[in-house]
Amino acid sequence: MLPPGPRSPAFWQTYRFVTAPEVFVDDLRARYGDVVGVKSLVGRGVAVLDAGLAREVFAAPPETFTVVSLFEALFGPHSVIAVSGAAHKKLRKLLNPQFHGAQVKGFLAAMQRAIRRNLDDAFDAAAKSGEVVRLTDVTQAMALDVIIETVFGAAPVDRDAARAALRGITHGFSPMLAVGTALHERWFPPWRRFTRVRDAFDRFVYGAIADRRARAAAGDARDDVLGVLLGARYEDGSPMTDVEVRDQLVTLLLAGHETSATAMAWCLYFLLRHPSALARLRADVDALGESPAPEALTKVRYLDAVVSETLRIEPIVTDVVRICREPFTLGGRWELPKGGIVAVFLMSILRDARIFADPHAFKPERFLEKKFSASEFLPFGGGARRCLGAAFAEAELAIAVAEIVSGWELSLADSAPERSVRRNLTMGPKRGVRVRVNGRRGARART
Ligand code: HEM
Repeated sequence: MLPPGPRSPAFWQTYRFVTAPEVFVDDLRARYGDVVGVKSLVGRGVAVLDAGLAREVFAAPPETFTVVSLFEALFGPHSVIAVSGAAHKKLRKLLNPQFHGAQVKGFLAAMQRAIRRNLDDAFDAAAKSGEVVRLTDVTQAMALDVIIETVFGAAPVDRDAARAALRGITHGFSPMLAVGTALHERWFPPWRRFTRVRDAFDRFVYGAIADRRARAAAGDARDDVLGVLLGARYEDGSPMTDVEVRDQLVTLLLAGHETSATAMAWCLYFLLRHPSALARLRADVDALGESPAPEALTKVRYLDAVVSETLRIEPIVTDVVRICREPFTLGGRWELPKGGIVAVFLMSILRDARIFADPHAFKPERFLEKKFSASEFLPFGGGARRCLGAAFAEAELAIAVAEIVSGWELSLADSAPERSVRRNLTMGPKRGVRVRVNGRRGARART
């Protein structure tokens, strides 16, 4: 017994969702309300557009749901994003402590190093040439470098080889992969490309793992993300195998690279369109002194509010999908069968006027005035599968945005607003936020 919804065929509903999710979801809500029966190429089920119902989905016992099978082919069968039920619970128990705020503190200096290096390279060149830069190009390179620095950076690593391997696999990743399956590896071009870059990535990663294991055996353990993953233990005391570590690394890279890079670009976009917010943020960051430590940046309340408001207005991930392993009752009346789909539309909840007044306006202050619950403010999803890298991403975003606004004078190259369009699994600004770099500012102008 599913709620009412559009009768159009599955391919058409999928197409509308993929190409213009906001229009599709606004239309669903206007016609059917907060919970809608939908059909997609993945199957039939419900679209959840309400915070209260989302809370029910996130609170359900983890064994209730599984995830789409594409994840296994993309990330590997041991990936935290691909496993479900007891295996997922066991893996999150091992991984959660490694990505908690306290552990992430240990990665902040490496993040700041990578961010500064990238900004110096990209913005100095742009300031000299006067050329317009696509901010997403800069933030993509920066987020990739943050991963290299935090994951591998504590031991000598061939950065060019790392960059080539990581860039290869992120570029090989395409929404078209969802059309074929791993069985089509031999003839479907997007899968052929993906498997080629995946093999190159694997050679690099297994080399890095072997090097680390040899160092650890010689008493030389390092404390970057790779070191932490190799040192982590399941409850029975056993470590992850090389293949398990590899699957988590490819997951962290693919889940944590484009997402953070896009969020950084949106943050800057909103600040440049709202000069009073930019001025307030600059004043708060400048007050920390000439070269603030990264940890101090993660504690600036207004910066946190700016990041939250950006993720609210332009959520990078539009929805999270769960597949029922067993029948599931939603809202006390809708019966989903085994195999039914539950899609929680984060985008719709984050822009719900009943929770966020004037939802399309950029107002960071709302996060200073009120604390929203986990099912109201949910850009990182929720429940047992909530984004593993949320604390990592929040710290990375805070440092990157603070370094840019305190160190550089930028202006938007286009007066027309940006539009959000789909890029792979995420949504991002259509033109990539084109900016002019007018030079350094503050203490950095004197260095
Ligand atoms: C602004 C940046 C980011 C956003 C908006 C974001 C958002 C999300 C969302 C919505 C989910 C799905 C949650 C669910 O199913 O309920 C997710 C899962 C995940 N994210 Fe992120 N993410 C970001 C950055 C990162 C980073 C930097 C990393 C890694 C360092 C990361 C690693 C992961 C992993 C491993 C999962 C799968 C968790 C699981 O299935 O148990 N994410 N993320």
